Amino acid sequence: MGKTALIDEIKKLKKEKNAVILAHCYEHAEIDEVADFVGDSLYLSRQAAKTDADIVVFCGVYFMAETAKILSPNKKVLLPNLSAGCAMADMINLEKIKDFKAKNPSVPVVCYVNSTAEVKSECDICCTSANAVEIVKSLNTDKVLFVPDRNLGGYVQSKISDVEIICYDGCCPIHNDLTVEDVLKQKQANPNAKVLVHPECVKAVTDLADYVGSTTGIMNYVKNSDEKEFIIVTEIGVVERLERDYKDKKFIHISERAICPSMKYIQLEDVLASLKEEKFEISVSEKLIKEAFAPIEKMISVG
Ligand code: 13P
Ligand code: SF4
Repeated sequence: MGKTALIDEIKKLKKEKNAVILAHCYEHAEIDEVADFVGDSLYLSRQAAKTDADIVVFCGVYFMAETAKILSPNKKVLLPNLSAGCAMADMINLEKIKDFKAKNPSVPVVCYVNSTAEVKSECDICCTSANAVEIVKSLNTDKVLFVPDRNLGGYVQSKISDVEIICYDGCCPIHNDLTVEDVLKQKQANPNAKVLVHPECVKAVTDLADYVGSTTGIMNYVKNSDEKEFIIVTEIGVVERLERDYKDKKFIHISERAICPSMKYIQLEDVLASLKEEKFEISVSEKLIKEAFAPIEKMISVG
């Protein structure tokens, strides 16, 4: 089937089945042509909580679809390709979070949404890269545990001096691998370019940024800027969308290493098969939904 026919068929089925398609902005950009909402983790969590569709097709990675299921337990939530995991989420599990908490008793735990439902169920509040600073501040405490991303936790620490943030030793291997040398090389070749960085990068890299923010934050920075050149220090999906949307601006992708393989599994064919056969359904036990809902809901209520 050609691309146009695929898109038409997906749109038709979506209507017939009262389905909604959510897409993270690291997905292949052509997914946007069938998506109802495209954005960062926080935006997509909010949409998942609000939708009154019967079926949610999540084009993203497993933890995102699982979060949608927790927020919409009565809806059928589908992930078009089950291979789409998150290497950072896999760095911590129930046993490890319990151990981390036992070593630091009575300290509230902030959990980056890039984590499994089991891990979330052990935490006090979730955050995304867009609201992490605000979430830590909202706790009004002098110490927090932060899981699983030591880089995002470290970035929050650089913004808040009166809270001690004890970070779990996890990271996103893709962002963590980007170096000062990568940035300096691109900056030398493009001296007028603004450097826009995702906070999953190491401190030495975020220190070189003109702006640090979530994927949507980076896209909004471009939208609101009169500058013409940008070095994009995050996954390639963001660059693809910026190049599509701002033809008069130049975007330099930091490195060909900044590609998340998990975000590239889902093709339009998978979305169609997912809708047609209603696969692969995300299931979370009632007990776990209840336990993991509390910290996600608390995050959303912070605003
Ligand atoms: P955002 O929270 O910016 O959408 O990022 C999610 C993610 O997985 C980044 O690697
Ligand atoms: Fe996970 Fe990193 Fe991929 Fe984001 S880019 S989904 S944190 S592995």
